[in-house]
Amino acid sequence: MTFDRRIKIAPSILSADFADFGREIRAIEDQGADWVHVDVMDGHFVPNLTFGPPAVAAFRKHVKTVMDVHLMIAPVDPYIDAYAKAGADILTAHIEAGPHIHRTLQAIRGAGMKAGVALNPGTSADAVEHLLDLTDLVCVMTVNPGFGGQKYIDMTAKVRRLRAMIGDRPVHIEIDGGMDPTTAPLMAAAGADVLVAGSAVFKGGSVAAPEVYGANIRAIRAAAEAA
Ligand code: DX5
Ligand code: ZN
Repeated sequence: MTFDRRIKIAPSILSADFADFGREIRAIEDQGADWVHVDVMDGHFVPNLTFGPPAVAAFRKHVKTVMDVHLMIAPVDPYIDAYAKAGADILTAHIEAGPHIHRTLQAIRGAGMKAGVALNPGTSADAVEHLLDLTDLVCVMTVNPGFGGQKYIDMTAKVRRLRAMIGDRPVHIEIDGGMDPTTAPLMAAAGADVLVAGSAVFKGGSVAAPEVYGANIRAIRAAAEAA
């Protein structure tokens, strides 16, 4: 993985057909997805449950781009090796998931993955000040994590502040929640480069009509690039 700040669209397969992940992943990649965003939920850190390491390992066989795994689980540390074996390229943990995020980020890198740190809407940008040299990605949640299709919560000031804190470091700013052609430009203008989108990518399409995914991805990208 090389670093750049061009806009990247990362469809969340939380909005895909759960009985057909292989074809869904191939469809979004064929239609222009830059990364594939995988939302892991444990029914404890967030009030919803999705999938674990064996499912993520199965997705890996279909992902040709970058597998971006967003852990919404607590604790994180006992599962880091399992997600490395499952083939995650980027593994993101929530700062709110435990008292030792510094150790967690070191362990993620130590296991050979890029390390991401995610911030809930109520968490300040300042919380990552002492983590910026240990992380490859800061994920700013623009919804409370747990479900797709929620309403965007504006985090413009937080993203601007993060962008300034990051400076020249090779750290991505990823936005997760409620991204569509209306909201994505606000975040791109504030300094984000990775835009996760679930419902806005999968809306109206299917593996039988993948061109709809392509049109949805292009609409988000065009709006963000014009910001
Ligand atoms: C929310 C997840 C998101 C979610 C985004 O907890 O982390 O990745 O799937 O979905 P949309 O784009 O529908 O808000
Ligand atoms: Zn996510």
